[in-house]
Amino acid sequence: MQDEIRNIRNQGLGQIIAVNSKEELEELRIYYLGRSGLLAKFTKNISKAPPNERKQVGVMINETKQALEDALGNKLQEFGNTQEEWADLTVPGIPPVYGSLHLLTQAINEISEIFEHIGFTRKRYPEVEWDWYAFESLNFPKEHPARDNWETFWIDAKPSEKYGPMLLTPHTSNGQVREMLRKQKPPIRMINISKTYRRQSDASHYPMFHQFEGLVVDKGITLSNLKGTIEYLVHQYFGEDRTVRLRPHNFPFTEPSFEIDISCDICKGKGCKVCKEGWLELAGAGMVHPNVLRAGNIDPSEYSGFAFGAGVERFLMMKPGLKIPDLRLLYSTDLRYLKQF
Ligand code: DAH
Repeated sequence: MQDEIRNIRNQGLGQIIAVNSKEELEELRIYYLGRSGLLAKFTKNISKAPPNERKQVGVMINETKQALEDALGNKLQEFGNTQEEWADLTVPGIPPVYGSLHLLTQAINEISEIFEHIGFTRKRYPEVEWDWYAFESLNFPKEHPARDNWETFWIDAKPSEKYGPMLLTPHTSNGQVREMLRKQKPPIRMINISKTYRRQSDASHYPMFHQFEGLVVDKGITLSNLKGTIEYLVHQYFGEDRTVRLRPHNFPFTEPSFEIDISCDICKGKGCKVCKEGWLELAGAGMVHPNVLRAGNIDPSEYSGFAFGAGVERFLMMKPGLKIPDLRLLYSTDLRYLKQF
């Protein structure tokens, strides 16, 4: 049986080489490799071979099939395989998959651009920060609750003699004194957009989030400059029909301090189920405290300034029409959700 298979292989290879047309080639394929071709017959009859030869016969049949298939393939190419490779150029192509910017990146870009138009420079200050920049230089009393373990992530590193312990910054206000010291002399007009961290997690809070912090220091800066800047921001980001109000509040690093509210989009300030009294909380702000200016080597009798801080995610969630029900969706990697924007 083995000799017969060897003969078939040699004979087949010889015939394939000598063939002159595609049709003859196809006939040879059917004769040797077809369903009831020569090699199929041998496969069927394997059981008739002596038991100790069967395995070897099987291997030879497979090798012969492979050799003949290769030879047929090569010969077919010689004839020019044009018909099989015919391509229909009118079939629509496969479009490439486009990426898109994440919603939060879009919001950050939009906010920086709004401020760029009125001369603010975008800054980014450290997320891993010293207590001094995040709290002490901002006039925080030692016992302030924001320093509590429940709010701030402390880093288990050797404290600095000058700057105290290390932490993950819980707000972008850490950039205020850093910017004053970097600039050395006013005027200062910065917008610091960065990641911030707090111990919190629910539908509208996440341990990592983004804030943007505005700081303006110059001669003769007053509360009306603050109000005008915030109104400009709100009109640009939320629309001309929204109004703002300043509500007295308390922050250690500003005096006076305010919370900024924006008129509700649904009831236009009249009061409804969502906002209750017509207003939604938007940001914190105030006139820079003299102690903070001093920490930044700026003389408070010569210069004054205002500052404000707000959450990027909060701005995004309040944008009319977006309706993001759960902040955590923004940090999921679910493309079905993210691709909508
Ligand atoms: N840092 C404050 C916070 O995270 C927000 C803030 C309030 C920033 C008043 C300011 C400001 O610059 O003047 O809640």
